[in-house]
Amino acid sequence: MVLWIEFRVSAASFGANSRIVVPAILQTIALPTELPRREPHFTRNLAHRNRRETPNDLDHHVSRREQWSARCWVRSKAETYTPAMPHEYIQRGTRSFEAQLEERTASVNAAFLLPHLRSGMRVLDIGSGPGTITLGLAEAVAPGEVVGVDLQESMVERAHALAAERRVANVRFERADAYELPFRNGSFDAALEHHVLMHLADPVRGLREVRRVLRPGGVLALRDPDVATAVQWPMTPELERFLELRMRAFALQGTDGRAGRKHRQLLLEAGFERAATRLVTWGGGSPETLPSSVRFLLAQLDGFRRIALEQGWLDRAKLDAIATDIRQWGERPDAVTFTVICETLGWVSA
Ligand SMILES: C[S@@+](CC[C@H](N)C(=O)[O-])C[C@H]1O[C@@H](n2cnc3c(N)ncnc32)[C@H](O)[C@@H]1O
Repeated sequence: MVLWIEFRVSAASFGANSRIVVPAILQTIALPTELPRREPHFTRNLAHRNRRETPNDLDHHVSRREQWSARCWVRSKAETYTPAMPHEYIQRGTRSFEAQLEERTASVNAAFLLPHLRSGMRVLDIGSGPGTITLGLAEAVAPGEVVGVDLQESMVERAHALAAERRVANVRFERADAYELPFRNGSFDAALEHHVLMHLADPVRGLREVRRVLRPGGVLALRDPDVATAVQWPMTPELERFLELRMRAFALQGTDGRAGRKHRQLLLEAGFERAATRLVTWGGGSPETLPSSVRFLLAQLDGFRRIALEQGWLDRAKLDAIATDIRQWGERPDAVTFTVICETLGWVSA
């Protein structure tokens, strides 16, 4: 009975997507077995949360237990989401986010790949964004060539400009799709996807394509966060709302916030011979480290803001309140925010 009610509500809420959400709903239905017998209220609140046309407060009059259950619902949906149509990159055109990307370097963000690079190697950086990591890879393999590809023309142009500004000659950037790389089989010694796999709706297809362009024995480095494994303290209602908004936006855009933990599985499925993952953390818990983490969270929020407004999830005032809260929270002497980042190397058989 409860299953049937859930199905009807969700089908009405998601219209054409109803077939897509059914498995997630069924998965989540398992949760209320531990809840007190309050299914009708729980069901009503889920329906409220998922009505797209309602400009609302995501947590309006919902108990903490229900908030938790609904968050799990959003998370399970993010995991099981199968896109009905091609997705656009979640942060496309978000200037503040792009500025954050420019702070990345190979020595920090690709440190786990660097020991595997040698002078003269040919390296591919897929989803290279503004290319600051790519430029560091070029330095590591000089005079070998590094190629950066990205779906967004604006990112390719920015990467060109930075390469010229920094006078790096052994690098080139071009627009290309991770699913259809314009390169010959076996033409690279190594490749990197830094915070890119999580955005691919069909990651195995993307990984098969990288395997194709890697030479026998070649190595692929993947780096993605596992946003479900995060430490944020002290929690505030606005910060909770931000985290929920992030999962909701990820689910909508086909971004997998748990891509990191799946690296090994996905690589093996795509035909890589072996894969090894390690975890590091990103974030801050001191006056020195918190400001950059807070800047990143605010830049992320800028991208989600567009989606939240388009979808009618939150209005401008609520989004501004979240931003103000995150800023104030970042100045607290007791604030801590850390996310697990998965770093994985996968090898093509020799
Ligand atoms: C989070 S950014 C990471 C950029 C860069 N790797 C970095 O860490 O600074 C993700 C990048 O992947 C690109 N991207 C997303 N889907 C792609 C696809 N199918 N093919 C190529 N690039 C893609 C986006 O345009 C964006 O620049």
